[in-house]
Amino acid sequence: MSRKTHRIAVIGGDGTGPEVTAESVKVLDTAAEKFGFGLDKTEFDWGGERYLSTGEVLPADALETLRGFDAILLGAIGHPRVQPGILEKGILLAIRFGLDQYINLRPVKLYPGVDTPLKDKGPGEIDFVVVRENTEGLYTGMGGTTYKGTKNEVATQIMCNTRHGVERCIRYAFELARRRHEDAPWKGLSAEDTGKGYQAQLHLVAKTNVLTFAHDLWWRAFCEVGEEYPDVKKEYAHVDATCMWYVKNPEWFDICVTCNMFGDIITDLGAMIQGGMGIAAGGNINPEGVSMFEPIGGSAPKYTGKNVINPLAAICAGQMLLADLGENDAALAVENAVMWATKNKLKSLSAGKMGYGTTEVGDLIAQAVIDGETPE
Ligand code: IPM
Ligand code: MN
Repeated sequence: MSRKTHRIAVIGGDGTGPEVTAESVKVLDTAAEKFGFGLDKTEFDWGGERYLSTGEVLPADALETLRGFDAILLGAIGHPRVQPGILEKGILLAIRFGLDQYINLRPVKLYPGVDTPLKDKGPGEIDFVVVRENTEGLYTGMGGTTYKGTKNEVATQIMCNTRHGVERCIRYAFELARRRHEDAPWKGLSAEDTGKGYQAQLHLVAKTNVLTFAHDLWWRAFCEVGEEYPDVKKEYAHVDATCMWYVKNPEWFDICVTCNMFGDIITDLGAMIQGGMGIAAGGNINPEGVSMFEPIGGSAPKYTGKNVINPLAAICAGQMLLADLGENDAALAVENAVMWATKNKLKSLSAGKMGYGTTEVGDLIAQAVIDGETPE
C-alpha cells in the first residue's frame, strides 16, 4: 500500500503564533512518522509583519492557493501595531468566508490534572462541544456608517441569517450529536443508566426573546431539522442563561449550536472553564472543502520569543486536524499524550508557569506520542 501524504498549509501568523505552531508541527510530524503517513507542509508568512512591510494583508491568489491543500494549521492573527480589524478581517475572516468554513467547532473538555475555576467540577462534568456558525450573523460586514464623526452619526451592523446558512450549521450539529453519542462510553446506556442524563443531546443557544426575526429563523430551522433526528434530545437555552449554566452546571451540555457572535463569546467562557487559552483549540470546518485549525487564544504579543507560551492549544488544534484528515489513530494518540502531560507533567497551563518552556512542551508531547502514553 502506498503511503498517504497530506498537504498542509501552515500559517504561523502574529506574536506567539509561529512559536506554538512550530510545536504543533513537531507533534504532527512525530505522529505521521509513527502512524505511517506523510505530511507535506508549506509555510506562509501572512500576518502583521508582512502587512506592515508590504501593505498587503493577503496575496491576491491566497484563497486559490489554500484550496490546493488538504488542511490548514493557523497560529494567531493580531498585531499591536496594526489597527484592530484589518488583519482579523483581511486574513482570518477572509479565509473562513472565502473557503466557506461554515462551522467553527470548539470542544470544551477539561483534561485530567487541569485546574478549572469551577468548584466541585472535574473532567466528568466538563466535556461538551460548541458548534458556532462561522460565515454569517454579525460577521458579514454588512451595514455601514453615515454622518461619521458628527453628532448625527448612524452606525449599523447587520445580523445576517440565511435559511441555507442556518440550516446547514444546525444539521452539522445534529449529525455531530449523533456521532458523538455513538462513539461515547455511554453508548447503548439509557439516560437513567448513566445517571448523567446522557442521551445524544443538542442545545440551541440563541436569544429568541429579543431577536424575534433572526433567531426565530434559527428556532424554526432547529425544530424542522430536528424532526429528522428523533434520537437526539433537543434543548433550548438563551445565550445569557447559557453563560450562567456553563459556570453552574456545565455537565448539562453535550453539543451546543449557536450563531457566529454568540459562539465567539461563549467559547471564550468555555475556554476558561476547561483551563484557559493555553489548552483551547478550534476548527474552522468546511465539511466539503478545506478546513483550518487554530488555537482559539490570541497572538499574546507580550510573550513573543520568550519560549514561555503554552503550545498545547496549538497541539490540540493539530489533533483536530489529524481527525479531520481521517488519521484517527494519530489524533487519539496526540490527545492521549496531551492528557498524560496535563495529568502528570505540567504544573500549570499558564504562560511561564508550566514548569517547562514552549519547545520543551512540544518535545514532551512528541515523545509521549512515540511512547504511546495515555492518562491512565
Ligand atoms: C475567534 C476570534 C476571532 C473571532 C477574531 C480574531 C476575529 O476572536 O476566533 O474567536 O471573533 O471569530
Ligand atoms: Mn473569539
